[in-house]
Amino acid sequence: MNNFSYYNPVKIVFGSGSIAGLAELLPDDTRIMLLYGGGSIKTNGVYDKVKSALCGKNWCEFSGIEPNPLHETCMRAIDMARNAKIGFLLAVGGGSVLDASKYIAAGCEYRGDPWDILAKGGEVKSALPIGCVLTLPATGSEVNEASVISRASSRQKLFFSSPMVFPRFSILDPETTYSLPLRQTVNGIVDAFIHVTEQYVAPPCNAPLQARQAEAVLLTLLEEAPKVLVNPSSYDGRANIMWAASHALNRVIGCGVPQDWMSHLIGHELTAFYGIDHAQSLAIVLPSLWRQTKSEKQVKLAQLARRVYGVGDVATDMAAADLAIIKTERFFHSLGMKTRLSDYGIDADDAAQRVSERMKTRDILLGDAPLASVVIAEILRQAK
Ligand code: NZQ
Ligand code: ZN
Repeated sequence: MNNFSYYNPVKIVFGSGSIAGLAELLPDDTRIMLLYGGGSIKTNGVYDKVKSALCGKNWCEFSGIEPNPLHETCMRAIDMARNAKIGFLLAVGGGSVLDASKYIAAGCEYRGDPWDILAKGGEVKSALPIGCVLTLPATGSEVNEASVISRASSRQKLFFSSPMVFPRFSILDPETTYSLPLRQTVNGIVDAFIHVTEQYVAPPCNAPLQARQAEAVLLTLLEEAPKVLVNPSSYDGRANIMWAASHALNRVIGCGVPQDWMSHLIGHELTAFYGIDHAQSLAIVLPSLWRQTKSEKQVKLAQLARRVYGVGDVATDMAAADLAIIKTERFFHSLGMKTRLSDYGIDADDAAQRVSERMKTRDILLGDAPLASVVIAEILRQAK
């Protein structure tokens, strides 16, 4: 196992009715900005519950944060927050609202252009405190220090992470997720699943506890997903998926183990260029990436096949690895998630060319072993 340090200060309040405890978690001595997205919280009753909690507090609101939140939108919120002397941000929604709130929190206190935090690794020395009411289990943003922001003007999608932007608290009420459209429910399950595999299907390093923790999250997602597809108001199904998605990216399973994240880096480019949902991009990239890198990843892929998919009696790791890829694709298809660029009308050669060109200019280490841009191009061509 590699050395690591682990820190996670997020207070989780989980369960049915937990929004009722929001008022006690919010400060009384500063102005609060409520941030939300396109209005789902107004139709599913979450807005009214949050408004009750804000009763008697000094607050204002900023709405219209879009999926794959834009720098341009966040800059408007930063201006508003600075002018209104906001001292606390309350993010109510999915990963996009939360990621935007993290960027706004950091941007409000940043000297210089906030985009530099994403594009130039500008250090986040301080940030406004954030609280969260999560309505979409997927990203793990409610329990981590990461944020992913897009810029419309340059068609970029970049991330930053800083311990300054951990939420102070996250309220996770599974009942808020009953109203999710099927597409978002499926997106969330696939995103969480791939967060685990990014930290699991990497070079082996003798960390059996982390491996089994990762397998527990994967098995939970595999078992619970069909339940919420059949019955979107299954409390237990929704609760188990919500908690599993948090565990997928609260960084515990990644302690001391090599990680990949290549599917995410390529997937972010697909979203930036073609506007497909985050999880849709991952479901396209992952199977193709595994096929291209199978010989390096065969030990963990075989372990995935045997321990998670219950594949027995397979003579070689390579054969088991093949089955892991096929079974993962089958799982995605069983949810109705597509796994090909052509499913979204995207030309594979065009994607290969655009994404690999951009990767050439990136001065970052890609994956557990850096992938050459020609390999990235091939991964996308094979995902046609
Ligand atoms: O905007 P509203 O009206 O609220 O509707 C949203 C949005 O249209 C809707 N929604 C959310 N909760 C709902 C609901 N509709 C009905 N009922 C509810 N309870 O769902 C749509 C998608 O929401 P969004 O927040 O965009 O989805 P998600 O949570 O999947 O977030 C995706 C973003 O997170 C980033 C992605 O790149 C993408 O930008 N990620 C962030 C990570 C992190 N911070 O650690 C890691 C991830 O890998 C990911 O990259
Ligand atoms: Zn993701």
